[in-house]
Amino acid sequence: MYQFITGPLLWLSFAVFFIGCITHVVIYFQGLDTSLDRVTYKVNTAFGVKGALRSVFSWLIPFGSHGWRAKPIYTLLFYLFHVGVLAAPIFLSAHSILIERALGISIPAMPDAVADALTIGVIIASLGIFIRRMILPEVRIITSRRDLLALLISIAPFVTGFIAYHQIGDGTFWTQMHILAGEFLLLSVPFTKLSHIVLFFCSRIQIGMDFGIKRGGMKPSDFPW
Ligand code: HEM
Repeated sequence: MYQFITGPLLWLSFAVFFIGCITHVVIYFQGLDTSLDRVTYKVNTAFGVKGALRSVFSWLIPFGSHGWRAKPIYTLLFYLFHVGVLAAPIFLSAHSILIERALGISIPAMPDAVADALTIGVIIASLGIFIRRMILPEVRIITSRRDLLALLISIAPFVTGFIAYHQIGDGTFWTQMHILAGEFLLLSVPFTKLSHIVLFFCSRIQIGMDFGIKRGGMKPSDFPW
């Protein structure tokens, strides 16, 4: 079992993840309408690129966009959640060792205590995000099972990893559950809302180029976001 889930299943999960993400990006940009969307992109590329970068970074920086500033509590939950889901898996020392063994790439590792704190942050933030989805009527009405599923799939590797690391219960069982949950996350990305990992950049680049060229970005005024 262990050999299978840390061997063929792991490679399959990474392959589905990368091929799925690349396919999403290709389909997104191929789907842009030549006369409606892409018009002037090639002529006014510099304005477009400037608009795209502003759009992406305004939304990556905490409180960088009007959208983030309008919802400060959600913004804090969002960043607590996303910093953890992105940093903990990559810079966890146990993962660094595995990556070095498999690929020969050495990634700087964070102290286990920091990874533990980030994991707790992910779990607390996801509870906050879930409660928000349940109690705010304007969010609840647009919440589908797919949203809750995405949240559940996202936190499963963290909850199982936390239990395995702290050796609560059967360590072997929880380690295997943790590996399977991580692989399920990778496999799910192309088929669920988790595809926003790449589609976020696609839509922000497109909207940024649009605003940077066609919707006032070429005038010396500020962007409306
Ligand atoms: C570069 C990577 C990523 C970017 C730029 C990104 C960006 C975003 C954005 C913009 C939202 C929507 C916020 C809103 O409601 O306005 C979001 C939501 C979400 N993201 Fe990510 N994300 C990334 C990676 C991830 C990863 C790796 C996971 C999971 C492991 C994840 C899980 C989620 C979940 C579950 C939500 C929904 C939260 C909710 O229910 O409101 N994201 N992300």
